[in-house]
Amino acid sequence: MDVLQELEDRRAAARLGGGPRRVEAQHAKGKLTARERIELLLDAESFEEFDMFVAHRCTDFGMEADRPAGDGVVTGWGTINGRMVYVFSQDFTVMGGSVSETHAQKICKIMDMAVRNGAPVIGINDSGGARIQEGVASLAAYGEVFQRNISASGVVPQISVIMGPTAGGAVYSPAMTDFIFMVKDSSYMFVTGPDVVKTVTNEMVTAEELGGAGTHTKKSSVADAAFDNDVEALAEVRRLVDFLPLHNREKPPVRPFFDDVNRVEDSLDTLIPDNPNTPYDMKELILKLADEGDFYEIQAEFAKNILTGFIRLEGATVGVVANQPMVLAGCIDIDSARKAARFVRFCDAFEIPILTLVDVPGFLPGTSQEYGGVIKHGAKLLFAYGEATVPKVTVITRKAYGGAYVVMASKHLNGDFNYAWPTAEVAVMGAKGATEIIHRADLGDADKIAAHTKEYEDRFANPFVAAEKGFIDEVIMPHSTRKRICRAFASMRGKTREHPWKKHDNIPL
Ligand code: HXC
Repeated sequence: MDVLQELEDRRAAARLGGGPRRVEAQHAKGKLTARERIELLLDAESFEEFDMFVAHRCTDFGMEADRPAGDGVVTGWGTINGRMVYVFSQDFTVMGGSVSETHAQKICKIMDMAVRNGAPVIGINDSGGARIQEGVASLAAYGEVFQRNISASGVVPQISVIMGPTAGGAVYSPAMTDFIFMVKDSSYMFVTGPDVVKTVTNEMVTAEELGGAGTHTKKSSVADAAFDNDVEALAEVRRLVDFLPLHNREKPPVRPFFDDVNRVEDSLDTLIPDNPNTPYDMKELILKLADEGDFYEIQAEFAKNILTGFIRLEGATVGVVANQPMVLAGCIDIDSARKAARFVRFCDAFEIPILTLVDVPGFLPGTSQEYGGVIKHGAKLLFAYGEATVPKVTVITRKAYGGAYVVMASKHLNGDFNYAWPTAEVAVMGAKGATEIIHRADLGDADKIAAHTKEYEDRFANPFVAAEKGFIDEVIMPHSTRKRICRAFASMRGKTREHPWKKHDNIPL
């Protein structure tokens, strides 16, 4: 009986973390504790903990007197809507959630198990970084975590939730995971903090400005989404996990769906405005195609000229990449190419089919783009699409001009189904620009230029030239797009396609 009681007592002590005073301080900052977060993340009663009694082995600086059970991180596994995930949650109430050798070993243990057993890793980060008393042992321990992030990349989905400080080299573990979520006003990530920045560059900046959720979702694109509080962030992680396969050898999940595959959307027949320069909201099309209008957007606040995210068709996950004519006329630029390329590569790594919706007038011109290396960054998207072997369905709604036409999952990059609406214009460039080049001699004569422009439009501002050549498989009615793309993806459930053997590619980075 005594041993049973001792176990209960030890468990109760471990669950207290850093004690009531520090838990109160945590709550006062609007943050939940490590265990409260796990409870919200996982299905009720599903959490199985590992290493609850692990304690650090440091004997410097009088540390042997303070060896809290668990060592500042709660680890284990549980389920999200019945599907298995591994989780670690740093406990800021225990030595600031700082990373000791043993703390990192706990994280490494569940990462190893996740890869072996094929389940995602979700890391909840809230830590003062390397445990200062342990010195280089702590750095080495971080290195072990990094190596596992790299090995697990493309094998199991890795999701980071930043719910407190993440500073210095510690940022590089989340940075190598597939998705990063942050909480507004209570989380930050930076390589060097405001004090160092001030000393070195004389810039005065707050932690929030330097590395808060706003900065990383809007400016740096380090983070994929920001939420108002811990509760909302964890609920959204659950929603994301529902879209993802558990590992790279499994097809994406198929859920029950309550939306007619043959649903006709007459409103799509008039989505494209009469004036080719008038924008429309591409998100409307995505929502009308998706099962139950459910679109899980990734990086909604960054490079808004391209949309990326997940939908379901017939209950199965599909990744969507879509030009957004509302922003920069849907041009591809450095940021949008990087954003979409990373998304395409995630989908391909995890066997998620890709739907591409195209309305792109070309690449964004300008010195800032060229100096910033739009050639190299644009190539990332081209490379990602060409390398992706998952089922690829493309629908051109309006413009598909020049190099951007080729990039956006065209037939030439092994697009499987390439559809176009009757409003599509597949051409080297817009009629006006084309006329001004090939009829330069007539530039002073407005009537002649108008006639040439009309002639060019009649010849090329349509999908039929491309369809005649087989670059477009079929010109489809906008209202029946959902049915057509559902049938297309359904026909490719058994698709196999492989590249020649290589160690790995050399995508332009
Ligand atoms: C040991 C730490 C710690 C750390 C915090 N604590 N960070 N203990 N190692 N890195 C302890 C504090 O002593 C304190 O203990 C408790 O955690 C809470 O910290 P506070 O400072 O009271 O909290 P707060 O005011 O909220 O400030 C949080 C903080 C600050 C901004 C994170 O603690 C801080 O600046 N910590 C040091 C950060 C740092 O320089 N880390 C090393 C970075 S280098 P008590 O007992 O008082 O509750 C790094 C390299 C990784 O991480 C490289 C990987 C390759």
